[in-house]
Amino acid sequence: MNDVLPDAVGVWQFLERSAREVFGTYGFAEIRTPVLEKTELFCRSIGETTDIVEKEMYTFADKSGNSMTLRPEGTAPVMRSIIQNRLAAQDPVAKLFYIGPMFRYERPQKGRYRQFYQIGVEAIGVEDPKIDAQILMMLHHFFNRIGINAVSLEINSLGCPACRPDYRRQLIQYLEQRLEPLCSECQRRYQTNPLRVLDCKVESCRAATTDAPAVVEHLCGECDQHFSQVRHYLDLLKVPYTVNVRMVRGLDYYVRTTFELVTDQLGSQNAVAAGGRYDGLIESLGGPALPGIGFAIGLERLVLMLDQDVVSTAAPELFIAALGDAAVEQAFILMSQLQVQGVRADMDFQGKSLKAQMRRADKLGAVHTLIIGDDELRSGQAQLKKMADGSQTSVRLDALLDLLT
Ligand code: HAM
Repeated sequence: MNDVLPDAVGVWQFLERSAREVFGTYGFAEIRTPVLEKTELFCRSIGETTDIVEKEMYTFADKSGNSMTLRPEGTAPVMRSIIQNRLAAQDPVAKLFYIGPMFRYERPQKGRYRQFYQIGVEAIGVEDPKIDAQILMMLHHFFNRIGINAVSLEINSLGCPACRPDYRRQLIQYLEQRLEPLCSECQRRYQTNPLRVLDCKVESCRAATTDAPAVVEHLCGECDQHFSQVRHYLDLLKVPYTVNVRMVRGLDYYVRTTFELVTDQLGSQNAVAAGGRYDGLIESLGGPALPGIGFAIGLERLVLMLDQDVVSTAAPELFIAALGDAAVEQAFILMSQLQVQGVRADMDFQGKSLKAQMRRADKLGAVHTLIIGDDELRSGQAQLKKMADGSQTSVRLDALLDLLT
């Protein structure tokens, strides 16, 4: 789990601001749900046999003996909230986004942490493949907006409860013939979660399954039609993508369209965003039968990829250097007045020498400095220095507010 220190927080704020701007343009509204939910919510939605539920949840009993879990992801909590607050009764179509910490007890490495932030999006109530394309367009737009281009979009279809069980049976049969080269994890899970074997990173598992049956070749008519429509709309919107028939997701609620935005810049943690359709999830949690689709972006992974210099932090517009008790007091009043007017102003609070104060102004990256001593107090005039080129102008102290606001 990481601290985001003041030096780095500018990048985070830039990313969050950009998400709010871009998602707002597409009509998405923010939702905030608690970080803690009943454990059962995640078992029922993400799936009992997934890595997240089997191994990675922070689960504990509260003082009443209820089993509670720190949310490992945001989709299930948002669905719980929609059901509990009867949001669908007001409007069966909801477009929501959220920004917040998630928790998974994973083995930490670059780009993988136990508390991490997601920016997530959920569009509820629309089955039309246009919304799939729209969501992916929005993801593409967001990455353009923040200036990250080294990513590619991979899509797949996982079918639905009508066609997947048959495919699943065929895949299990196929894997049964090739158990020996599979890693122990895949040997254990090929019956319970056979699709995950296709996604395993272990080389011998990949080699043993190169000609495994692909789910896209076993889709029912409706899923096949839906998937080709999604691709058609992506082509129309000129959103670049490739179809990756081996891509399966680590959460059980997905049906039909699934996708990942991957990069080769982060080592093995190559997904910067991922998501898909989850028609049936809301109903299985006791709500109305509404379809849904969404994604989540891993914020730490974006921060790792961004050139941090492009985002400037809030340097003061004015640093006031003061010499002598009376001047320090005057500088303090002036600084406060400027701050109230929205000017980023700063000064020294440690009684440092003039030289040290100027060094501090430099270090903070102040745009202007103003030096006040006894003479300046008497005359009511001081020199405003522009730090970029060292040029100075004489200003009246009582006119400074007008000058800088
Ligand atoms: P997910 O694939 O589990 O999907 O996570 C989405 C993204 O969160 C990943 O692609 C990655 O960027 C980031 N992420 C996941 N785990 C970690 C970690 N331990 N450390 C750092 N970053 C991580 C979901 O969570 C779904 N709820 C997405 C979704 C929304 N599907 C539909 N709607």
